[in-house]
Amino acid sequence: MRTERIERVRKLVYSLLDEAGLDSQETASSLMHIESVARISYLLAMRRGIEKSELAYIAGLLHDVYAIVTGEREKHAEKGSLLATSILNTLAIFTFSECQIITEAIRNHSSKKRTDDEYSEVLKDADALDHYLSSSIISAKDRGRIEKAFFELTEKSPCL
Ligand SMILES: [Fe+2]
Repeated sequence: MRTERIERVRKLVYSLLDEAGLDSQETASSLMHIESVARISYLLAMRRGIEKSELAYIAGLLHDVYAIVTGEREKHAEKGSLLATSILNTLAIFTFSECQIITEAIRNHSSKKRTDDEYSEVLKDADALDHYLSSSIISAKDRGRIEKAFFELTEKSPCL
């Protein structure tokens, strides 16, 4: 999956991570997570018949940038949504409603117990699924989402 807009966002995200001065291990694992969440988000969006699956991909790329560059996990979804707004405004390649879809999904992505709009749900499920696929510790709130989203994509149950 490659579009001009995805490449523009990716380039900006990579330069922000570069400027953050993280060690190479941290940078590698952060990049792996956001790239993986972006790709899973795209697949889930396609599977669910979501019209603008490119936006799901972009929300995945941007969803943890705030937490990665600041090292702060506390309220990183809300703060990350503000950072994403400023990134998207800087790029000026998205409509107002596209910006809203992306930033809203980022703002909601930590609220895994709640059900929100379809793009937010894709991002939450992709985030949870990547925790499973990357062998991270699975939190109780991610469990149900992992089971459902894994089955949706593979028609098999995950080994939890
Ligand atoms: Fe994440």
